[in-house]
Amino acid sequence: MPKTLVTYPLPTPRLKDFCEKWDGVVVPKGTTVDEAFLMREGAGCEALVTLLNHPVTRRVLEACPRLRVVANAAAGFDNVDVAAARGRGVFVTNTPGVLDRATADLTWALILACCRRVVEADRFLREGRFHGWEPDLLLGMDLNGKVLGVVGMGRIGTEVARRAGAFGMKVAYHGPTAAPPPFPAEAMDLDALLGAADVLTLHVPLTPSTRGLLDRRRLMRMKPGAVLINTSRGAVVDEGALAELLASGRLRAAGLDVYEREPAVHPGLMGLSNAVLLPHIGSAGEETRRTMADWALENAGRVLGGGAPLTNVWPLDTLSPFVKNP
Ligand code: DGY
Repeated sequence: MPKTLVTYPLPTPRLKDFCEKWDGVVVPKGTTVDEAFLMREGAGCEALVTLLNHPVTRRVLEACPRLRVVANAAAGFDNVDVAAARGRGVFVTNTPGVLDRATADLTWALILACCRRVVEADRFLREGRFHGWEPDLLLGMDLNGKVLGVVGMGRIGTEVARRAGAFGMKVAYHGPTAAPPPFPAEAMDLDALLGAADVLTLHVPLTPSTRGLLDRRRLMRMKPGAVLINTSRGAVVDEGALAELLASGRLRAAGLDVYEREPAVHPGLMGLSNAVLLPHIGSAGEETRRTMADWALENAGRVLGGGAPLTNVWPLDTLSPFVKNP
């Protein structure tokens, strides 16, 4: 039985050394890593190094009694039953911060693609429909002077908003902030923000309170002709309602990198030319993904070596006194 299960061949040269040091087995690409797989293959492990789409449920945790750490190679950790892990004294770690800029860049790629119809224009040309410059060909939304509405002004939201000035956009936001944003930005309640934003971008973690946050009622409150961008988690948005509002033209466009039931995409979105659909590549910069992998391995190694991880997602001082942990 390996001591450590790494559920994907992470893109870092450090993986080999890590596995040699910590008796690690790497799950090959293409394997279905579901609950049953983790219960079976993780049973004797002290560490699981996981991806954001690998479900570390209560049942998995119970099936892995020797487990000391779940090191997610992602900032999000909605795939892990954190309460169950915490109750068992199992560390749950993530990789916050390292992907903020990459995700913010990709968010802007979607904003620009949606507002200036980049993907639609590319298809138009490839289909042989470009017959010369025309003043009204593929008109889109000018960004200058428009309002960027940010839901969730955490690290990634802040990086997205920071870039808005370069495009002449005003920033408004909803959600708690550790400190006032270091640029002009107006705080609003959510309904006011929905009505004010020309481009609304979502940067909240998936929790019980954000699941379905942009439901039909709230989508209907968005400014007519606005653009919705989601690079956070798909389940924050009612995809069916969004598809209807895009099809009717009530909303101008949507740029999505994440979906409610990945890798499935709501069929209503697939045929829409005003939906730009990406396969969850927000953090997919080479250095960024390598750093995420290194960070996850570092967290797992620290715990296996008897120390505390760099980024546990639950407060260490809440460790149950009945659980013996380094
Ligand atoms: C994360 O780390 O949570 C992101 O969704 C990966 O791109």
